[in-house]
Amino acid sequence: MWKNIDECINNISRAFYLTEQRRSKLVQKPMAVVGFSGMQNRHFLNNLLDYHQELNYLEIGAYRGATFIAAMYNNQNVRGIAVDSFDDRFSFGQDTEELYASLLSNTTNILTNNEHYEIWRKDFYDIKPEDLPKIDVYMFDGEHDMQSQFDAFNHIHESY
Ligand SMILES: C[S@@+](CC[C@H](N)C(=O)[O-])C[C@H]1O[C@@H](n2cnc3c(N)ncnc32)[C@H](O)[C@@H]1O
Repeated sequence: MWKNIDECINNISRAFYLTEQRRSKLVQKPMAVVGFSGMQNRHFLNNLLDYHQELNYLEIGAYRGATFIAAMYNNQNVRGIAVDSFDDRFSFGQDTEELYASLLSNTTNILTNNEHYEIWRKDFYDIKPEDLPKIDVYMFDGEHDMQSQFDAFNHIHESY
């Protein structure tokens, strides 16, 4: 967890500073994963999670893993949990089994530096607070309507 709020803010500032210079631990492979994540976002999360103490990272809506892999890459201090239901309701006609297989193969092939992560094929609304560790960095990238944004915080508020 963050040692205190000042350290948390300092690490956010540091992450912005490095990101503006396009710097992080990311190399070509994690940058090349197809997904809904820009290069600045990938650098930022990778820098934000680079910290001298253990952090818990939760991502809802992992899809093929572009954002999750960028966040986790070479950050051995992090326990990462990637959640996606791969439900036909949210896939815009894409093959959900192919998407799930792609998340598994992308993480297996790229997160090879002793990163600690779990992949949960699960609906966000089925997660109970007791399933989760205390979350230090939370990326909600499921549905983007207003109600889902409220739910993103309210549903798991006991875990951060
Ligand atoms: C925009 S994509 C996420 C992009 C991804 N973060 C990336 O880095 O490319 C949205 C994902 O959220 C998932 N999703 C939507 N609603 C969900 C829910 N209630 N529970 C779990 N996953 C959900 C969808 O299956 C889809 O894969």
